[in-house]
Amino acid sequence: MVEQDFVFKKVQLVSGVSSYESPSNIALVKYWGKYGEQYPKNPSISFTLSNCKSVTKIKYRPKKDNEINNFLFLFDGFLMPSFNEKIKQFINRISIYIPAIKYHFFEIESYNTFPHSSGIASSASAMSSLALCFMEIEKKINLKISKSYFTKKASFLARLGSGSATRSIEGPVVCWGESEAFNDSSILYGTTFRNIAPIFNSYQDTILIIDKNEKKVSSTLGHHLMESNPYAENRFIQARKNMSKIKDVLIKGDLDNFIKIIELEALSLHAMMMTSSPSFILMHPNTLSVINEIYEFRKQTSIPICFTLDAGANIHLLYPVQFFEKTQNFINNKLLKYCFSKQYINDHVGIGSKIIEV
Ligand code: PMV
Repeated sequence: MVEQDFVFKKVQLVSGVSSYESPSNIALVKYWGKYGEQYPKNPSISFTLSNCKSVTKIKYRPKKDNEINNFLFLFDGFLMPSFNEKIKQFINRISIYIPAIKYHFFEIESYNTFPHSSGIASSASAMSSLALCFMEIEKKINLKISKSYFTKKASFLARLGSGSATRSIEGPVVCWGESEAFNDSSILYGTTFRNIAPIFNSYQDTILIIDKNEKKVSSTLGHHLMESNPYAENRFIQARKNMSKIKDVLIKGDLDNFIKIIELEALSLHAMMMTSSPSFILMHPNTLSVINEIYEFRKQTSIPICFTLDAGANIHLLYPVQFFEKTQNFINNKLLKYCFSKQYINDHVGIGSKIIEV
């Protein structure tokens, strides 16, 4: 499909309510570096999560002539001026693909199920839930829209809000960006990969909250800095190779190689940050302490637990569900002391977004 296939020109005035919940995701092969309007420089693949999600509701109606703004945004029931610019930009971008949006007013309410300011990036869950709500408006005008087109376009629109959000519509595993290994993959939207070994369907992700402060460098700036990073081209090659390797690993349930790829990807992402100009470090001393504890625990117990990182200091512990108890003991005995206010969140691989009946 091409961009033009996502333009729905018909304009009709409608009113109603739409509501969706959408989860966050954790990348196995990381997206870092973009061009144009949110196209990835390299392909990426992620586990869709389950418990960490955003719930969004939009009330829409025709816009009145005297209304200057076309939306009102409430987060946790409060006005959030700091989010307004991002939402305004998102609505402007998606209006090209659903022009009817320009003639409507939106009252948007959203909240996250994970603690506010926990340092967990919420743009993937927030933007994907928002994109789904806007797709309901298109659905109201275009009664013949198919389920698969709806899903693809929701992912396409989510991408315009936040690149990683494109991978949060479905689950359990979604890839995004052109990859030789995944022949239906696209830079425009996420594609679901279902051919995974059963062990991954219930894989656990325990998120250790190391630092709950907002990132010092936004991912928008981080992506941008890849344009002048001297190692960027090799990083994009590495990511493409890792996409091929991870496909094999996911199909076979090869945990040894899973661990190798996942940890290398996490550290490569942060290596890119450290070698950008200006350089920056998002890890915290406790991030490194936890990584060393994981290495040691794995060596001692042979439990196939590994870590990955987002663009931040928090650690995602990935492991098979059968090691849940042992991992919880490990966290309580060894890792809790490195966590901010002893906070962590148990999550697991999920199947994606869900409509909420209103
Ligand atoms: O979606 P963005 O623009 O916030 O980028 C996030 C990129 C990482 O989370 C660091 C990696 C990824 O693939 O999700």
